Amino acid sequence: MVQISPIVRQATPVIVEQAEGNWILGTDGVRYLDFTSGIGVTSTGHCHPRVVEAARKQIGSVIHAQATTVMHKPLLELTEKLGDYLPENLDSVFYANSGAEAVEGALRLARQATNRPNIIAFQGGFHGRTSGASSITTAGTKFRNSTVPLMGGVVIAPFPYAYRLGMTEDEAVRFALRELDYIFATVTSPHEAAAFIIEPVLGDGGYLPVPVEFLRGIEERARKHDVLVIVDEIQSGVGRTGEFWAHTRAGITPDILITAKGIASGFPISAIAASTELMAKGLPGSQGGTYGGNAVAAAAAIETLNVIKDEGLVQNAAERGAQLQAGLKRLQERFPVIGDVRGLGLMQAIEFTGDDGEADAATAAAVQQGAVSEELLLLPCGPLGNVIRIVPALTVNAEEVELAIERLERTLEKVTSAAAVK
Ligand SMILES: Cc1ncc(COP(=O)(O)O)c(C=O)c1O
Repeated sequence: MVQISPIVRQATPVIVEQAEGNWILGTDGVRYLDFTSGIGVTSTGHCHPRVVEAARKQIGSVIHAQATTVMHKPLLELTEKLGDYLPENLDSVFYANSGAEAVEGALRLARQATNRPNIIAFQGGFHGRTSGASSITTAGTKFRNSTVPLMGGVVIAPFPYAYRLGMTEDEAVRFALRELDYIFATVTSPHEAAAFIIEPVLGDGGYLPVPVEFLRGIEERARKHDVLVIVDEIQSGVGRTGEFWAHTRAGITPDILITAKGIASGFPISAIAASTELMAKGLPGSQGGTYGGNAVAAAAAIETLNVIKDEGLVQNAAERGAQLQAGLKRLQERFPVIGDVRGLGLMQAIEFTGDDGEADAATAAAVQQGAVSEELLLLPCGPLGNVIRIVPALTVNAEEVELAIERLERTLEKVTSAAAVK
């Protein structure tokens, strides 16, 4: 019998029969509260009726209008609509299928446009599993192992992970910016640096909001040395953090913005945005692919953006995010294994640490797995496996947030009492 490869690891044993909103019905007949949203993808919830209808309608008119052969209306409409949200300077967009492809596209564009070789990424960052993307990914060695030789011209700079460093946020930012300047003196001179790439909230690397002063420090150095700033909003974008884009809280102006995941509620599409001037410096024909900017995915993306606007989901993410974080902080007071609670909007996390201050991956794994028995789906993250991320759809309501906290509390009770018995 042919089976799914064990290379693809599944965080839960659930097989989905049907899904709606923040709920997944398993083939086991259990209704699970889904606080994973398919890793931050189902922004409007599973199978939002308006998104379903838009995709259905599109399927009946054209499915695949290959975008480098013929243009199609959904892509033109999506591009115009994105203009309502993109930073003003980013007036040119092209499309791909996945986050990693968008990362590859952004790196290629940055190198072509600047004629410089080096990319500066940050420790703990996650940008995908394709060759170039994994070369700038340090959210875990598992993403890099056995892909050697990695892409050249990559410099990994320290990240101001204050909790881990045992520093205040200000101290961590000062430390990381100082090291960044040192990198310009020791590893790559600024005139060989094409771009910085950073997620405004580190995703797989542990759900770490980047301190605004760090984002500003990067931008300051970028402007001084003509280095581009690429913001990877693949996970943090499209309302997830309670603002449409997570970088705006720092008031920085990216040169390239990439996004995917939540933009189409589960249909595969990603976007790479830059100024027309910058795009003009890229080599025509060097970007694009067979499926990039698929018509059905584009139609789903348009309706996703409509729903986000009409249902006030960015505001909901801010409000429900505050409620979720308050609930997690209450749990932290009760359960000392929770060392840190952090996040922005509906991108929240709890980090488990032992009495010695060291990462407690065993407890994190027991909680994430134990939550399944409480009919709550959660995801692990962080290079050391000791972080759980809590990432419901932007449509989540107050009752669902409270229910998730209750189920998480019951899971923590069981896991910590089992540990005490041992
Ligand atoms: C910030 C970020 N960049 C890039 C990627 C890669 O996206 P994909 O898995 O669609 O290739 C991810 C996926 O989790 C991500 O979170």
